[in-house]
Order: sequence, then C-alpha cells, then structure tokens
Amino acid sequence: CKIRHYHFSVVLKNATKLCTSKAILTVNGKFPGPTLYAREGDNVLVRVTNHVQYNVTIHWHGVRQLRTGWSDGPAYITQCPIQPGQNFVYNFTLTGQRGTLLWHAHISWLRTTMHGAIVILPKKGVPYPFPKPDKEKGMVEADTEAVVNQAMQTGLPPNISDAHTINGHPGPVPNCSSDDAYTLHVETGKTYLLRVVNAAVNDELFFKIAYHNLTVVEVDAAYTKPYNTDTLFLGPGQTTTALLKADKGVGKYLIAISPFMDTIVAVDNVTGVGYLRYNRTLALTPTTLVSIPSVNATPVTSVFSDSLRSLNSKEYPANVPLTVDHSLFFTIGVGINPCTTCINGSRAVASINNISFLMPTTALLQAHYYGRNGVYRLAYNSTVQLVIQGNNIVAPESHPTHLHGFNFFVVGRGVGNFDPEKDPSEFNLVDPVERNTVSVPTAGWTAIRFRADNPGVWFFHCHLEVHTTWGLKMAFLVENGEGPDESIEPPPSDLPKC
Ligand code: C2O
Repeated sequence: CKIRHYHFSVVLKNATKLCTSKAILTVNGKFPGPTLYAREGDNVLVRVTNHVQYNVTIHWHGVRQLRTGWSDGPAYITQCPIQPGQNFVYNFTLTGQRGTLLWHAHISWLRTTMHGAIVILPKKGVPYPFPKPDKEKGMVEADTEAVVNQAMQTGLPPNISDAHTINGHPGPVPNCSSDDAYTLHVETGKTYLLRVVNAAVNDELFFKIAYHNLTVVEVDAAYTKPYNTDTLFLGPGQTTTALLKADKGVGKYLIAISPFMDTIVAVDNVTGVGYLRYNRTLALTPTTLVSIPSVNATPVTSVFSDSLRSLNSKEYPANVPLTVDHSLFFTIGVGINPCTTCINGSRAVASINNISFLMPTTALLQAHYYGRNGVYRLAYNSTVQLVIQGNNIVAPESHPTHLHGFNFFVVGRGVGNFDPEKDPSEFNLVDPVERNTVSVPTAGWTAIRFRADNPGVWFFHCHLEVHTTWGLKMAFLVENGEGPDESIEPPPSDLPKC
C-alpha cells in the first residue's frame, strides 16, 4: 500500500451557471470538486485548508473509517469545524472496500457545491470480478440550487432546484441560450465503466442513457451480482458503478437525470441532460429518450432496489450477521410543529421515533472520548438489526437514510407497516446488497443488519439535506472492545476545537 496525499483548499470561486454568475464555495476552485483516487489498503491524507469565512468540514461518505472516527467529518458529531484560516489533516486507510464513493462538505448546506467522487481501485494485481472495461469514466450528478439556507431558519421547504447537472453541466436550460451539456465520448465496440454518484442535496434521481443498457457491478463500494437495467436509481449519497457497452454506430444519445418524488407533486421536477457521443467530428442531432421515468415512478425504484444483490463470491463473501444482539425499530418522518417566531405559525420538523435531534455545540465524539455521552450505545462487535419505518404524519416520502462508519446489509424492505410476525421470515440473509445509504420507501419500511465493529460515534440521518436540517438524525455510540485493535485511536493533535 501507499500513502496518498491530497490538498483540499476551500476557496470562493466565481461560477457561471444557467446564464448567471455568482461566487460559490469550492474545493480547489472546482465544481464538482477533485476526484480522489486510491487503491484498497492505501492510507489517504487530505490536508484541508479553509480560506473562506465559513466553518467547514469534509466527510468521506461511505469510507468505513475503521478506528479513525476522528476523520469522518460530520460537524459537531466527530469534530468541531475547521474555522476560517485553519487546517486539518484527514487521515484514514481504505480497508475492505473497492469501487466508487463520494466526499462532501458536512456542515450546514455546504455540500451543495462542495462535493466530488472517490475512486477506490482494487489492490495492485487484483482484477475486477467482472470483465475488464476498456475505459473508466466518472459522472457526478448534482443539483444547482438557489440558495437554500432559508429551510434552516424557517422550517419551510428549500427553493426548487434550477437544474440538475452532470459533472457541473445542466444541458440546455430554458431562458438561457447556451447549451452547456456534459458529453461522454465513446468509441463503438468498447466497454466503459461508468461511476455514477448522486451528489444532489435533496433529490433521489433516475439515470438513463437512450438506447443503452447498463450492467450494475458495484454500489456504495461493494461488488454486486451483475444486474442489467436501462435505468439506474440513486438516492443522494449513493453511488453506482456500471458497465456500458458502446454497441451503437455513429450517434448522439441523450443522457438524462430526472428526480423521483412519489407523493409531493413535482417539487423538483427538472431533468438534467448530457450526451453520449460516438463521433467527435460530425454534427449530430441527439436522439430523444425512449422514455424518462415519471417523477412518481415508484415501481421503477422498487424493481431497481429489489434487484441488487451482493456478489457473495468466494473472494467477496457477504458476511451477513445471522444472529441479532440489538433489534431496533425506528420510525422516521416529517411533521409540522407549531412555533411562534416563524412564518405561518408552524414549521416542518423531521424526526426519528418522534425525537427531532438538536445539534450539539461540541463534537459528540470528543465528548464521548473524554467521558460524557448522549446517544444510542452499542457494545463492541454486537450485531444490530434495525427496521426503519417511514411514517405517515404529514408528508409520507421516500427517505434515503445513511449510516456513517459502516456498510450494512439490506435484508428486507416493503410497503405499508412492518409486520414483526411475518416479514422477518422473508429476510434475505444470504446475498443482500451491502450499502451505506438506503431508501426507506414512502410509507414503507427497510430492514438492515450490521456488526458494530467500529468504535466511535456514528451519525445516522436522512441524506435529504432538508430533512437532516429538520432533525431526522441521531448518532450511535459504539464502545471500545477489550482487544488491542478494538479501540478508537487517540484524537489527532490538530483536531479543531469548538
Ligand atoms: Cu453523506 Cu452524513 O453524510
């Protein structure tokens, strides 16, 4: 293994998008930010220097951070923010993961513009468990939004996205003459590995390329059984790696990313467009898509989610916990609370078990390390089954739920209310898909299992930023074990202070 050094400089940068320009917060002046490349087993050191007037932190979404919870990044959970003018070095080793993940700012809504991909290649000399692609390409999907801070103060929904972008490009936009579209150039007969990241703040998204099928081979940096589909479905924070066979002749094919929202009508229904192009020289008119999934295409999301399976091969076995030490049942949802200081006399709140989590002012992991507490405790190496039930209070909605510090197995999912008598007998304990973020279907449930083998404090929240803000979040505290490698490492000396 190697040590990989990166420098992330947080700077303001003038960006012109959708025919207007404004200063946005970026890493190294890029939108999306730089891609972090490493191999499994590498030690990654990222020095973050804060050159702006806002507090920042960076989260390595899906990186397990085995015993290095100090480098996880969620503000006030594992660290105090990096203040203006300050530095912090994130230091972690990529253990037992290969594929695509993402990094993003993890404070306020700064991840809107500060995000990028993480590519973890297999160890040197270790092949992919699927046919070797000719080329690899990254696609980061995001939404370019009008500034959304209002949601925090008022409990109102955020502004509607102006566009969804692919690698920073929205495609043709109404009321804006330029056609700023991302183009993926391919050659006939070659196979491409597409790494797709949903970096949007508030939207689950469909991804589709006209007249081309995709073979999913990995999600959230865990290999899957090959799955052929014409549509990918990704919640924010989720990643999908798929093989694309360029099996057409000359042509320009539409790539579309469109939002999924199955109960609230067309909140954010704007499609981002790019092109898959076979020939650089000819001027070509793009094909239209056969169809873009409708904004409420729940069946498409279910088929996609239900079709994913762990590879579960000899080299990459799925170690699903077969016994359960902690059996937990959480209800999550969005409701309305009365309030006196806000617009209309009420504000939206989001909760787990009817508790809307309030952010602490000191980092929980520091508090824990120095002997205080306040979160759900798990003994080291205990096994956990968690059934997450989406409730129905005000706005039933699909919730892409993310657990820091672990991959979990998605052993079951269903619509309606979870039935503890019947549903567990149908759990898949053989080859369930392994993820770090999972969609809890609208007014339905999802069951996950994981082993609490990573001591520290781990954030658990809905990855729709607006729901995190409204309180759909909590943290697990995993205790240290007795063995020599079963404790969190001591805090680094440059860890920021609150
Ligand atoms: Cu990708 Cu806590 O987030």
